[in-house]
Amino acid sequence: MKIVLAADHGGFELKEVIKKNLLQAEWDVVDVGCTSNDSVDYPDFAEMAVSSMLTGDCQRGILVCGTGIGMSIAANRHRQIRAANCFDIDTAKLSREHNNANILCLGARVLETDNAIRMVNVWLETEFTGGRHQTRVAKFSE
Ligand code: RB5
Repeated sequence: MKIVLAADHGGFELKEVIKKNLLQAEWDVVDVGCTSNDSVDYPDFAEMAVSSMLTGDCQRGILVCGTGIGMSIAANRHRQIRAANCFDIDTAKLSREHNNANILCLGARVLETDNAIRMVNVWLETEFTGGRHQTRVAKFSE
């Protein structure tokens, strides 16, 4: 499974920490930017990450901005994308179990770094439950 990472300036530093942790754990990672704290527009980076998933190159995404809100709104404009803006371990886990989230959005300005890393790990390890949840997900996503 290949994971695409993206961030705007508000999420750049947390993205870098997440990338370091994922690479240490030997995940296959693609980073589409941004590459510094310079101001950029989060929809541009959400779109690059989504594109890499729609082509089939990447299967999961982790998008970081100041709050996670902008990234999640932008990514969710695509029917194949189920981007969950999560704020703790429980929501990260449930976004996989119940919603089959294929993108995790994180807010660098509202999360502690250690907590964000734990959320990423739980989110990557948790399987979709399927069953009644698949019926519900199929009503809005492919
Ligand atoms: C950028 O200042 C900020 O608006 C962005 O990172 C994000 O929080 C938007 O939802």
